[in-house]
This record gives sequence, structure tokens and C-alpha cells, in this order.
Amino acid sequence: MPAGRTAARENRAFLGRAVRYLAEEVGIRQFLDIGTGLPATVNVHEVAQQAAPESRVLYVDSDPMVLAHARALLTSSPQGRTGYVQADLRDPAGILESPVTREVIDFTRPVALLLSAVLHYIQQEDSTAIIVAALTGALPPGSFLVASHVTGEHDRAGWAAVQRDYRTAGIPVRWRDSDEFARLAFAGLELVSPGVVLVSEWRPDSDGPRPAPAEVSVYGGAACKRWRDAATAIGGLGIGLDDADYVGGVLWYGLTHRGGQGNPEEQKRVITDRLVRWATRDGGDSARTAAAIRSVLDEHLAGR
Ligand SMILES: C[S@@+](CC[C@H](N)C(=O)[O-])C[C@H]1O[C@@H](n2cnc3c(N)ncnc32)[C@H](O)[C@@H]1O
Repeated sequence: MPAGRTAARENRAFLGRAVRYLAEEVGIRQFLDIGTGLPATVNVHEVAQQAAPESRVLYVDSDPMVLAHARALLTSSPQGRTGYVQADLRDPAGILESPVTREVIDFTRPVALLLSAVLHYIQQEDSTAIIVAALTGALPPGSFLVASHVTGEHDRAGWAAVQRDYRTAGIPVRWRDSDEFARLAFAGLELVSPGVVLVSEWRPDSDGPRPAPAEVSVYGGAACKRWRDAATAIGGLGIGLDDADYVGGVLWYGLTHRGGQGNPEEQKRVITDRLVRWATRDGGDSARTAAAIRSVLDEHLAGR
């Protein structure tokens, strides 16, 4: 994470506001926080459980020291639950399949995935996108992703120097510009207002003055996984699949069943097979029906 104290402070405040928004306004009760970091003045379960004491939070970090502190200090309200998993973001299956994860998080109900100031530790574009897709692919519709990322966009030389310092210290990081970050993190998801902005500009608590962009240098955003649009579009094909609840259920099943987790092609195949079977139960051209459904899925699940 950035050397800048302002950046770290603003990022942490953003995380707190995003969790509060999701807990209070959206009603999310489960949080999967990957790249937890050391306990700070405002921690995810505290914010979530202040809004709803029954909230459940899974803390995941690759650093055993961080986890030891988290276990000791990030303890749940009696009504809720916190869990701790030492795992690497680069191994999403390891995170998703951990027995502790399965104990704390119910993947049939909406989850907020938090990737706050952690994606810049992943160097390769393609593997970053695959990791995000694997994680968001495992979440049911109505789930959210909150992510933030350091950028060099507002002070190229200054942040390049910070990046060099990190690399010299053996911590490879890669800053990204806002469009690059938005594409990597939020493709295929529906961003909530105000979109991807500097974290200090994301639903600020007051109209007071905010630090200069170069000092903040962290972008953030929150987005929802809503498959209702895909269900509506499939209904609009006029092939007898106009029951949005049924289609939504099949989408949910395909997106969350174990074999399809994180594998968009497998998910689309499972969804298409089920819908074609239903749409052609009284006869009809399966191949054409499948092609029509596939084109909607490709459009709506694009970039995942
Ligand atoms: C800058 S801190 C962010 C802490 C917190 N999320 C926040 O926004 O304030 C980054 C954290 O990510 C963890 N981290 C870095 N690379 C990771 C990886 N590949 N898998 C899991 N955690 C990782 C680090 O150990 C560190 O605790």
C-alpha cells in the first residue's frame, strides 16, 4: 500500500463508508474481506455489526502476522460471526473452498467481496481479471464487489518512486490508472454511483475540503452483481422463458454451483443447457434456442 499517510487514511475511510453503505442501505449481512491488513481504528466487522449485529465477516490475508492480529483483535458481536483464513488472493479456489469460509459465508445469500488496496499486489492483467472473475463468479446475484487500487495518475514521478521502493523491498506492486482498474475489477458488474473515483470522492460524509488528488492516489468503487437484466433479456427473446424468477433461479444456480465457480464458460454451459431443456420441453429447435440464449449470456456476462 502507498507510503502516503493520506492515501492510507483516505482508503480506510472509503472502506468504512462502503461497508456502512452496504450494511445500512443495501442490507448486506456477509462480508468477505481479502487483504484484510492489520487491525485499524475502523474495521469491517465493527462497521457492519454496528448496522446489523448479526453480520458475518470473513477476514482473509496471506500474511500470518496479519491473521494473528486479526484473530486476537477483530472479534465478533455475539449475534454475528467473524472468521479468519490465511490464504493468497492468487488462489481463489483455496479461499472459496476453505471449510472456514464455508462455515462463515453462506454462498446462497448476497455477499460483499472486499478487495481494498490489494489488487495492486497482482502484477499480470490477465491473472488479476481471472482472480476477480473467479471470486465474483462464486457470489449469488445481488452480491457486491468493493475494490480500491493505488494509481500513479495524479503524480507519475512521485508514485513511480514509491513503486520502485516497494519493489526494492521485495514487494512487487503495480499501480494502475482508473480505466485499467475499472476494467479489471468491475467488468460485467453494475457500478453504483458515483462509479470509480478517487476514494476521497466516493460518497463522502461531508462537503468539507478534501486532500489533493496526488496525495490520495487511490481509486475505489462498488458494484453489484445483478443478473436480473440477463433474465429480462432472455424473457424478451420470446422463446417461452419469460418467467424472470425461474430464469433468475437458473442463472443463480449456474453461477454458484461448485463445478462452475469461477469458470464463466462452464457457468454459461450449465445455464444454457437448463434453459434450453425448459424452453424446448414441448418441442422446438434446441440449437437455435441455445444460440439465442448464449448470445444474451455473452452480452450480459461479458468480461467476467
Ligand atoms: C495495504 S493492506 C490493505 C488493508 C485493508 N484492506 C485496507 O484497505 O486498509 C494490503 C493487505 O493485503 C495483504 N496481501 C497482499 N498480497 C496479498 C495476496 N496475494 N493475498 C492475500 N493478501 C495479500 C497484505 O498482507 C496486507 O495485509
